[in-house]
Amino acid sequence: MYNKLMDDNKRFVTGLDVGTENVRAVIASVNKSGEIAIVGYNEGKSAGMRKGVPANLAGPAGAIDRMLGDAERMGGYDVRNAYVSINGSTVISTHTEGMIAVGTTEHEINDEDLDRVEGVAVSGRIPANRDVLDVVPLEYALDGQGGIKDPIGMSGARLEMRANVISALTPNCENLKKTTAAADVQADRLIPSAVAAAKAVLNEKQKENGVAVVDFGAATTGIAIYEEGDLQYVGVIPVGSNNITNDLAIVLAIAPELAEEIKTRFITGDFNSEKSLAIKVGKNNERAFDRKEVEEVVKARLDEIFAEIRKKLKAAHYDQRLPEGIVLTGGGAKMRDIEVFAKEALEASVTIGTPQGLDGVADAVEKPEFATAVGLAIIAAESGDLAPTQSKKAKKSGKKPSGSGPFGLVKKIFSKF
Ligand SMILES: Nc1ncnc2c1ncn2[C@@H]1O[C@H](COP(=O)(O)OP(=O)(O)OP(=O)(O)O)[C@@H](O)[C@H]1O
Ligand SMILES: [Mg+2]
Repeated sequence: MYNKLMDDNKRFVTGLDVGTENVRAVIASVNKSGEIAIVGYNEGKSAGMRKGVPANLAGPAGAIDRMLGDAERMGGYDVRNAYVSINGSTVISTHTEGMIAVGTTEHEINDEDLDRVEGVAVSGRIPANRDVLDVVPLEYALDGQGGIKDPIGMSGARLEMRANVISALTPNCENLKKTTAAADVQADRLIPSAVAAAKAVLNEKQKENGVAVVDFGAATTGIAIYEEGDLQYVGVIPVGSNNITNDLAIVLAIAPELAEEIKTRFITGDFNSEKSLAIKVGKNNERAFDRKEVEEVVKARLDEIFAEIRKKLKAAHYDQRLPEGIVLTGGGAKMRDIEVFAKEALEASVTIGTPQGLDGVADAVEKPEFATAVGLAIIAAESGDLAPTQSKKAKKSGKKPSGSGPFGLVKKIFSKF
C-alpha cells in the first residue's frame, strides 16, 4: 500500500526497539552514497514484556502492530523487515580465544582463515542454548606476535584471535523473532539495546579512547563498553526506572500513575539542591507529599541501581578507567539532573546521550529514549549485506534475506556494531 520500493535510488531500513514499557520504531532511507535520512518514527506503550524479554507473544506483537501504523504512514513505506533490539539479563559478553594453523610462514592470511579462526574461537565456548548475536574480533596474533587488528595479507603459519562473543539465551531470541513475526515484521538481526543506543550517541573518538553507554530503561539497565574502537563488553541489569515508580507507590501507598507523575515532574538527580519542602499534586494541588521522604525512596533505589552498574564496570575491568566517561540513554536518563547523581555514584564524567546530526525528520527522535531505535536503523543502513528491503512479493515467495543461516543473525562478522 505504502510501498516506495520502486524507488531505485534509495532503500529503506527500520529500527524496532521492543522495550518493556515502550515500543519504538525509526524508519530511515539510505541513498546510493550511503546518506541516511529519518523518514518515519513512532512510539507506543508496550505489552507482554518482562524485564526486557517477551513474557507472551500476543502482547508485544499487538503493541508493535499498533505503533508501526503511524510510522509507516509517515514514512510512506510498509515495514516488512527490521533490525530489532534484544534485552534482558540473558544478553552477555564472553571473551574467547581461538588458534589455527594456516600453513607455511609464506602463507598470506585471507578471509577464509579469519572465518576458520573465528569458528574455533566461538565453537564449544558458547553453551548450546545460546544464540551468538555478534563476534567482535579484538585482536589477532601471528606466530605469537600480538596486537594485530587486521591480519589480511600478512604472513604467518599460526593465527590466533581474541574475540568478544555477544550471546543471548536461544528462547529469548526465538520468542523475540516470533513476536515481531506475529506483527508481520521479520527480525533480520537482533542487537542488544545498549549496543544499538551506542551507535546513535557515540562518536569514533569516544569509542577509541574508552566510553560506556548505560541504557537506563524501564525494567532493565544495559551497559555497553567500548575501547580501541571495539565493543569490549555488554551486560544487562534486570532493574530500571520503573523500580523507582513501584517503590514510591508502595512506600507512599499511592497509585502507580501518581507515583510516576511525582517521579517525572518533581524529582531531580541533584538531591542537594534547594527545593520546596512539599510536593503538591492533583488538580488544585490537593495532595501534598513530604519531599524528604519521597527523595529518600528515590535515592535508595538509584543508589542500588548505580551500585549494580558499577559492579558490572568493575567486572569488565573498566571501573574508573573510561577517559570519555559514561553516556546515559533511555527514558530513565530523562530524570532532571540525573547526571549529577550518576557522576557522584560512578566517580566518572557523565553526559546524557541524544542522537545527533541526522537528516530528515530527526528533531523528534533526538531524545535519549529514541537512541536504541535510531541506532538500530543506522546499523541496518550501514549493513550493506541486506538487499533493498524485500517487497511483499519476495516475502510471499518465501525468499529469505541474507543473514538467516544457522548462525542466523550474525553473518557479517566484521560489521561492528
Ligand atoms: N522525565 C522523566 N523522569 C524520570 N523518569 C522518566 C522520565 N520520562 C520517562 N521516564 C522513565 O523512563 C522509563 C521508560 O524508559 P524506556 O522507554 O527507555 O524503557 P523501555 O525501553 O520500555 O524499557 P527496557 O529498556 O527496560 O525494556 C520509565 O520507567 C519512565 O518512568
Ligand atoms: Mg529500552
